[in-house]
Amino acid sequence: MAQSVPDFYNNEAVFAKYMSHRQRVDTANDTLEKPVIMDLILPVTGKRVLDLGCGDAAIGPELLQYGAASYLGVEGSHKMAATAKQTLAEMPEKIILHNIEDWTYPHAAFDLVIARLSLHYIANLAPIFTNVFQALTPTGKFVFSVEHPVITSSDKGWISETNRQDWLVDDYFTTGLRVTNWLGGTVQKYHRTVEDYFRLLQAAGFMIEGLREACPKRENFQDVKTYERRSRIPLFLILAASKPL
Ligand SMILES: C[S@@+](CC[C@H](N)C(=O)[O-])C[C@H]1O[C@@H](n2cnc3c(N)ncnc32)[C@H](O)[C@@H]1O
Repeated sequence: MAQSVPDFYNNEAVFAKYMSHRQRVDTANDTLEKPVIMDLILPVTGKRVLDLGCGDAAIGPELLQYGAASYLGVEGSHKMAATAKQTLAEMPEKIILHNIEDWTYPHAAFDLVIARLSLHYIANLAPIFTNVFQALTPTGKFVFSVEHPVITSSDKGWISETNRQDWLVDDYFTTGLRVTNWLGGTVQKYHRTVEDYFRLLQAAGFMIEGLREACPKRENFQDVKTYERRSRIPLFLILAASKPL
């Protein structure tokens, strides 16, 4: 039986594996996802930033160093939120332990909302996108990353805990719940097509400014074999959206 996603990350063994996974050389997050996020959000000077599903909030101090006016993380896992509070030791009040779905979003309070690899865990994105739209100032921007739909479509042929050798894209247009084994636990996520994300943003009132697939760049990798492996299939989809002027 799959746990709720914050409970998945609350699991002692899963949490430990996740944190050590993120420390490895050439992680997909550092080599693929983060460079695109930074490319889409910088400069952040003077911006009030909201981070949905912030995890350990490692990006928080970095954005503040880049000149962001403030950083607020919302995180549903108490273990992640506790780690995030340590990351932001000077201002632990900047981390809110809450689900993304039912947090009360303040109106026009942020210039930038980011959500990195948290939204594919959520069953119903439409109300969240509407909340994000209202939480942004008129010139605000929304940038999020999700596991790429070719990845969430199917994990057939993948033996959990091994390096995937081949990828099978299947059931692409059969959207919805997927239950998968990862980090020694069982997690549920939601598969959507690229078009679904696009339409959900439009339905909330957003104008889409950018769509990226985190194409690997050699200079971001220490290991050439990892670079070649990452050149085989997209792992992430990243969208940037703003309010129409
Ligand atoms: C893969 S981690 C990414 C963490 C961070 N954004 C990063 O990129 O380093 C996904 C995070 O989203 C959080 N999350 C998932 N679903 C959530 C929900 N419904 N409400 C709040 N947090 C959620 C998880 O607890 C986890 O910390």
